[in-house]
Amino acid sequence: MKHVINKIHHTDFLKFSQEIHTESIDLIITSPPYNIGKEYEQRQPLDAYLEWSKTVLTECNRILKETGSIFYQVGTYVGKKGAHFPWDILLFPIFVDLGFIPKNRIVWIRQHGTHAKHKFSNRHETILWFTKTDNYKFNLDEIRVPQKFPNKKNYRKGKDYGRFSSDPRGKNPGDVWAFRNVKHNHEEQTEHPCQFPEDLVTRIILATTDPNDIVLDPFIGSGTTAVAAQDNNRRFIGCEIVSQYVNIANHRLKGKPDEKNNFPNLKTLRDYVDKTGEDITKFTFSRQVGNNPTPSKHAKIFPESYHLDKTINRIKYEADHPQYKKKQ
Ligand SMILES: C[S@@+](CC[C@H](N)C(=O)[O-])C[C@H]1O[C@@H](n2cnc3c(N)ncnc32)[C@H](O)[C@@H]1O
Repeated sequence: MKHVINKIHHTDFLKFSQEIHTESIDLIITSPPYNIGKEYEQRQPLDAYLEWSKTVLTECNRILKETGSIFYQVGTYVGKKGAHFPWDILLFPIFVDLGFIPKNRIVWIRQHGTHAKHKFSNRHETILWFTKTDNYKFNLDEIRVPQKFPNKKNYRKGKDYGRFSSDPRGKNPGDVWAFRNVKHNHEEQTEHPCQFPEDLVTRIILATTDPNDIVLDPFIGSGTTAVAAQDNNRRFIGCEIVSQYVNIANHRLKGKPDEKNNFPNLKTLRDYVDKTGEDITKFTFSRQVGNNPTPSKHAKIFPESYHLDKTINRIKYEADHPQYKKKQ
């Protein structure tokens, strides 16, 4: 199977999957096309989409190792008469029927998105995590986040008196994630319309795989899963049907300028300049805002807690602000 590893394959996943050996993959992480009429998909009737999903997930089940995990990130399907169906609810029974074991339903909240006029605006998507057996990997120490009150000590008399009341190594990040979505002014943004943020994928990879493990993304788009795998010394396999996205993914992985000194995104450009010390103003990146890319030290990358605080502040603002209150 060596010939398929550490490559982005320009192909339909279901046509390619026979190349992947049974029980050879440690982690599958993906965001499938979710039948909402994006430029890379043709809308199909709900039943047909669910049937297709079942075929995809049956293949995923075959190729996943006994110790493996699958993370499936989905949003909402809009049907007739403005009906909104959360994909995770529709797909959940398919996973369970195939024998997958549910572990978490992670809610990924974000601040931005289209503003609805006749319902509450969608501000979350979900990531379903299933394992194949109960003998799966979960490396909590790799993904701990800071405690809320790291310096607090036990004050009650007893054997733990005076010791830190919480684990000084940090806490479990929980199942509500606030990574910023990759939209305008996000330094990872390429020409792809719906990318994963690299830090979201990295958390999953570090938690559920070990170095050199194989990570598969059957619908890899701009290559985020492969970039995060490569950065963390894991091997990867990606499939993508649109050649433009395959090129973007390969360019991100290579991390070097093209013949016009362009990069697929600002992050790849910054990483390159950091490594080589070359003059940043020589280069451009796709989706460029302005002529001179911002230097690395001004990168707009914030910790997850920053996005969470901003989201909470926005919700508080809406609750407190007079214009949102019921008129007397
Ligand atoms: C939601 S996007 C994934 C984006 C990705 N997570 C990223 O970070 O860029 C889904 C991708 O699946 C691709 N795709 C759609 N049908 C496919 C198929 N049958 N086989 C492989 N790729 C497919 C689409 O072109 C699209 O780029």
